[in-house]
Amino acid sequence: MNNCPVTVLDLAPDDPLVQPFDGATPYDDYVRASVLNHMQQPLTDAPDEMGFLVTTQVAELWFTLIAHEWRAARRALAADDLDTAADALVRARRALTALCGSWEPIAALTPAQFNGFREAFGKASGFQSAMYRHLQCLLGEKSAAVLRAHRGDPAVHRALAQAFGEPSLYDEVLRFLHRQGQPVPRHVYERDVTAPYQSDPGVVRVWQRIYAGPQHHPLLKLAELLTDSAELVGRWRAEHVRVVRRAMGDKPGSAGSSGLAWLQQRAALPVFPELWEARGAV
Ligand code: HEM
Repeated sequence: MNNCPVTVLDLAPDDPLVQPFDGATPYDDYVRASVLNHMQQPLTDAPDEMGFLVTTQVAELWFTLIAHEWRAARRALAADDLDTAADALVRARRALTALCGSWEPIAALTPAQFNGFREAFGKASGFQSAMYRHLQCLLGEKSAAVLRAHRGDPAVHRALAQAFGEPSLYDEVLRFLHRQGQPVPRHVYERDVTAPYQSDPGVVRVWQRIYAGPQHHPLLKLAELLTDSAELVGRWRAEHVRVVRRAMGDKPGSAGSSGLAWLQQRAALPVFPELWEARGAV
């Protein structure tokens, strides 16, 4: 009798799992892994470049998923379907948590490691991420100026111009609250949605009412889901600043900003400010 432990778990050639397909596998037809896994073309032999490229691409995919979920939440709120909106915001929260975790492979780049490939990508910068601008439009962080960078790419520019002209997720939240009988000021729920959202004292008071009211109220649940998203966006931005400080100190950015100081200023701006301001008076 052979007492050797099994060390290889092979499949028999007639196992249904290994029967060949005509053409690509159904997995590849669906996931497009062969396309996805051919989109990493480092420009140097620097050992850290692949991690930088993949981390950035992964972040772009999470941006896509978060935008998808926030759009779903916005659509549901416009139809007064709070349960469906809450489900989408829970999925967005999970995607945002994954996005925050995605810094890990490049979280400790030294300046010399980053310099190993920085020059090769020239003026490329996350500042030019169109999907990030879609996210900002959904948050109400509207800026006509940042769309200019995309003028040379008509399809991307068209999609961004459309997002710019649409109400943000937060605009739909406020319109929904108004229809629910909350005293949202008229100039807020009828505002020009292409302007950057500004904190409004009347809206702060609406959130205060909601937070001071019954603790299991559906509108309080909505407020907390929005606060989760706001907090996680803030966490992603703070982590970006931390990674940048570690990898390049106070050197200017590749897109032409002052770098760290510029990012710190942007990261300091709160997302959905009224949800934070309301807390002080509850
Ligand atoms: C070593 C890693 C990184 C460094 C040193 C870095 C540096 C910078 C700098 C200096 C800026 C300011 C704009 C400029 O002048 O270029 C910027 C903006 C930006 N970066 Fe990064 N970045 C890094 C990784 C990433 C990654 C992985 C992403 C994910 C997509 C990303 C997304 C962004 C976005 C979206 C902006 C625009 C922010 C805004 O407009 O407020 N960055 N980055």
